Amino acid sequence: MKKVKKAIIPAAGLGTRFLPATKAMPKEMLPIVDRPTIEYIVEEAIASGIEDIIIVTGKGKRAIEDHFDRNFELEANLIEKGKLELLEKVNQSSKVEIHYIRQKEPKGLGHAVWCARNFIGDEPFAVLLGDDIVQAQTPCTKQLIDQYNETGSSVIGVQTVPNEETHRYGIIDPISTEGRTYVVSNFVEKPNQGTAPSNLAIMGRYVLTPEIFEFLSLQETGAGGEIQLTDAIQKLNESQKVYAYDFEGKRYDVGEKIGFVKTTIDMALENEEIRDELYEYLLKKVNELNITIK
Ligand code: G1P
Repeated sequence: MKKVKKAIIPAAGLGTRFLPATKAMPKEMLPIVDRPTIEYIVEEAIASGIEDIIIVTGKGKRAIEDHFDRNFELEANLIEKGKLELLEKVNQSSKVEIHYIRQKEPKGLGHAVWCARNFIGDEPFAVLLGDDIVQAQTPCTKQLIDQYNETGSSVIGVQTVPNEETHRYGIIDPISTEGRTYVVSNFVEKPNQGTAPSNLAIMGRYVLTPEIFEFLSLQETGAGGEIQLTDAIQKLNESQKVYAYDFEGKRYDVGEKIGFVKTTIDMALENEEIRDELYEYLLKKVNELNITIK
């Protein structure tokens, strides 16, 4: 069985939810405290044993490439000033090979993944979506790779969401479960409200066998008129087993404003440099708000 060594990170989305901040800056570069969101994703891939990453970019995304490139002037400056801790942070991603390809038209997530087919070739691979950051004891992608290593089958990361949110996600229709693993009869992309077959939602982490490209290459459109990865996964599931895995960990939705702000607060509260001051500030704020409500 071939090992999972490659990962695709789709990053071609327009980021309209964060306009005007994303007018001239890719949404993947929006910082959470002091790191761009995409760095959290790349670090999860590295911590999961991924050796090669391909980022699918689009128009106006050049800042992502600059971010993961070396910056010799900056490095020299940090060395001169003895800021070696910062130097280490700046060069984090040099531990992995990062490649880029452009999605030339915004045709959907399935199409973005398909754009990386030649890079992946005939190997199993991981997909990590930038809108979901997962904090877990064992990195989320590693959990899925461990499952793949047991079964040799594709496996999709899921978590439970409230009823009223199912229409925002890909949802699975489970047949049976063993531990955290589900056998699935159907993968449905963004079911209409009230029609979801379960509360188990696809959370932006996938390990897929290369046969998925046979179905993606059909270029069939689905929900929202886009080529959906979930639809190709369902087709794959009809010809070879695709499992769902209820991964352990806290998932943050940084693809929408409130999720982004909550993530920022949580990450800031874990940051030794600013934690105490922020905590005091939040307490003060809560007191002030109580007074206003009265
Ligand atoms: C994508 C997938 C969807 C998944 C979601 C997770 O949707 O198509 O199946 O549940 O990511 O964040 P998007 O949020 O890009 O519309």
